[in-house]
Amino acid sequence: MPGKAELYRTTARLLGAMDKTGLMLRYRYGDRRLLENVVLPALDRDPAVGTVLLVGCAWYTRHYPQLLPATDVITMEIDPAKAVFGGERHIVADMAHIAEHIASGSLDAVVCNGVLGWGLDEPNAIELAFSGAVNCLRPSGLLLLGWNDVPPRNAYPPSSIAAFGKLEVADIPGLRTHSLVALERNQHCYQAWRKP
Ligand SMILES: C[S@@+](CC[C@H](N)C(=O)[O-])C[C@H]1O[C@@H](n2cnc3c(N)ncnc32)[C@H](O)[C@@H]1O
Repeated sequence: MPGKAELYRTTARLLGAMDKTGLMLRYRYGDRRLLENVVLPALDRDPAVGTVLLVGCAWYTRHYPQLLPATDVITMEIDPAKAVFGGERHIVADMAHIAEHIASGSLDAVVCNGVLGWGLDEPNAIELAFSGAVNCLRPSGLLLLGWNDVPPRNAYPPSSIAAFGKLEVADIPGLRTHSLVALERNQHCYQAWRKP
């Protein structure tokens, strides 16, 4: 039986080969399409955005750095085996330890989709992760959170996380709203804030 790392390596190789033939395997759900076709491109078009951290990598996010061609993208993922789905600048780390890897005030945006409640589950780690992310943002930097407002994923919603209290609500890039349920079925919400 191949190990997980070998399985992910093979998956990444196969998907890379398929991408080159033009047969791009992607999730086609509305929440993904919104993120990939509207939100990330709008972030990339923002002249004030130079460096973005994307947290959490999977086979279906491997092309996300390409959706931000004008931006310096850093990816971060706790599972070393998933580094094959990360970008060129990839950090294997727990987001709770973000401060050990990324300089204070050095990021223009953090995109943290599907991590809160999907491995980032413990209150102390959640606070460390988001207070750390806020510290890494420059003033006016953007924090985009994607989370599922359904049990058990919503045990610690953003309203319960102290770090978000330090931020101001902002529009989601490409949309004129701070908060949106992008997929009803699993209550996948996108919400955006700015560092004052
Ligand atoms: C549901 S996937 C979401 C992937 C992607 N961000 C997206 O847009 O869907 C959750 C990923 O977050 C990673 N993850 C969970 N907890 C983490 C943490 N504390 N720090 C960094 N990555 C974490 C998991 O290993 C997994 O690959």
